[in-house]
Amino acid sequence: MIDINEIGATAFVIASIRAMEKEQPDPLFNDPYAEWFSNERALGAARQLNEAFPPSTTMVRFRTRYFNRFIERGIAAGARQVVLMGGGFDMRGHLYGNPDVAFFEVDQKAVLEFKRFMLGRHGIEQLPSVLGNYLEVDVATGLDELGFDPAAPTLIVWEGNTMYLPTHLIMPFLNRLTGAMHTFRIAFDYFAVDLENREFETDEDQRRLEGVERAMGASFPTGFADLTVFEEETPLRVAEDGSFAGLAEEFGQSDMVADYPEDWRETLKLYRYCVLETR
Ligand SMILES: C[S@@+](CC[C@H](N)C(=O)[O-])C[C@H]1O[C@@H](n2cnc3c(N)ncnc32)[C@H](O)[C@@H]1O
Repeated sequence: MIDINEIGATAFVIASIRAMEKEQPDPLFNDPYAEWFSNERALGAARQLNEAFPPSTTMVRFRTRYFNRFIERGIAAGARQVVLMGGGFDMRGHLYGNPDVAFFEVDQKAVLEFKRFMLGRHGIEQLPSVLGNYLEVDVATGLDELGFDPAAPTLIVWEGNTMYLPTHLIMPFLNRLTGAMHTFRIAFDYFAVDLENREFETDEDQRRLEGVERAMGASFPTGFADLTVFEEETPLRVAEDGSFAGLAEEFGQSDMVADYPEDWRETLKLYRYCVLETR
């Protein structure tokens, strides 16, 4: 039995939400592999997410579509490599990889060993992967050993990760990446709240976010109330910033979000995406 810790286990919950997409009247994406990584426990956590805050799983659907679009647009603009950082059971490497675009994965050893095992059962190979805690291991050297070209334009998908990380390790990690790769864009989701000090604007926001933490079975030590910290503490530039709910119209879901109660829409302003890029 592979021993996956509580942060690794969150990858099953996200895969389970992706696995349910085909049952939606208007699917936002197609991930035919997701059901391989779904299980009863993770489906229970997904239900608990919606009990804690009803739009939660919808926002995961929006985020999946957003990161797909990040890859599609990035490749169209010339990216030649994609790194799925903390990629969990993300199968975009198999969905979007082609002879001109190389995908690499980075995640904890136990998560990627489980993924390799499941893919192997279906006769599919795991992509070149760096196994380990990316805050501790030398990610750049690990990628280089797999054939990564530090000079090629690169996209980094850092989806569903920042909230789980110790705040003080994030900027050093980004600075190590910046020192090791010439040109990249890194996209991530984040909570726009100072979670270290639990500085919520309303009790409702706090209750909802803490309910989401409980459902995910892991705590969220990190949020960013102000993105200027990235420009002050790293050489990167903020290229995009917005709320996932704000993508509703583009994703053909504006009626649904417009029907949400006003206070839900206020809380949703806290769940956002950001793209940082090298200057
Ligand atoms: C919520 S899941 C998201 C997985 C995937 N990105 C997705 O959205 O489907 C978080 C993933 O990040 C990985 N992760 C978080 N912190 C990590 C770290 N410091 N080193 C390696 N992997 C990490 C976990 O193991 C887990 O697979």
